[in-house]
Amino acid sequence: MTKRASIADDAGAVEITPRLRPGEVWRDPEGRHAVACGDCTDRSLVLNLLRDFPAPTLAVHDPPYNLVMFERRTIGEYIRWCRSWIDLTGEILADNASLYVWLGADQRCHFQPLPQFMSMMADTGFESRSFITMRNQRGYGTQKNWMAVRQELLSYTKGNPAFEVQYTDIPKILRGYYKNVGGRRTENMERSRSETIRAGNVWVDIQQVFYRMEENVEGCKAQKPLKATERIILASSARDQTVVDFFSHAGTTLLACERTGRRCVTLDIDPVYAELTIRRLEHFRETGRTGWQRERPA
Ligand SMILES: C[S@@+](CC[C@H](N)C(=O)[O-])C[C@H]1O[C@@H](n2cnc3c(N)ncnc32)[C@H](O)[C@@H]1O
Repeated sequence: MTKRASIADDAGAVEITPRLRPGEVWRDPEGRHAVACGDCTDRSLVLNLLRDFPAPTLAVHDPPYNLVMFERRTIGEYIRWCRSWIDLTGEILADNASLYVWLGADQRCHFQPLPQFMSMMADTGFESRSFITMRNQRGYGTQKNWMAVRQELLSYTKGNPAFEVQYTDIPKILRGYYKNVGGRRTENMERSRSETIRAGNVWVDIQQVFYRMEENVEGCKAQKPLKATERIILASSARDQTVVDFFSHAGTTLLACERTGRRCVTLDIDPVYAELTIRRLEHFRETGRTGWQRERPA
């Protein structure tokens, strides 16, 4: 055990005693997942983390948006740092695999690091696949600009991975697109495979995590919604395949893997977030609940 640590949030500090020290790996007693505490560019740690797993077919990364350990790096340094974990991802992924990266865009500074990151990816061996935008419900900004409500999600492939179309919960309501099928005039609602709209590259149907939601993990400000993470996992991996996430934080990818029958290997540089990741899984297995809402994980 390492010494107690705390993470601050609106309600005060969450006291927690991390079980992992930097460089250590927790292996799931049920043999499904593994969590490490350490740096995403530490190749030997990542290889050790993956020791008992088939090569991942999906990576879902959500790096800090150029605010690494609360100090802003120059854009050049930030992109060089991204390149090192992208190259490591390319090395560990299966021959046919998908990569998703959540990335911010600073509208006060030429939208960095989004364009630089996109350019950097051009010679990594990954192919660009989709540029997804997720709409947040709560935006920020003044009355003098458009409210900022978007989160960017870049999708890439290595080789030729499978892709499973996903559907939203938004009912189809528009008629009027007619086509002749077998000599009979049919309209779009009649021909469709689903009552709901297929997920495209703009996601407006996902609730941003906030403290009243069951999945909320107190102290985790950058938590992504389970619904978005599960959508990625269901589209781009199959049951029992391995999913990797280098920036675990609230353990969203790990929990989404547990709920969808995938295996997850994940890490976080901060022992407190590595601990919260493990506790979130344990809590889910004990209670069926996805987070703590307003209670404390400690
Ligand atoms: C934006 S959050 C990830 C949120 C996550 N997707 C979720 O839903 O909870 C980024 C995380 O990356 C971790 N981190 C920052 N630098 C890191 C590094 N070099 N290696 C591994 N993790 C790092 C931070 O401690 C933080 O918990």
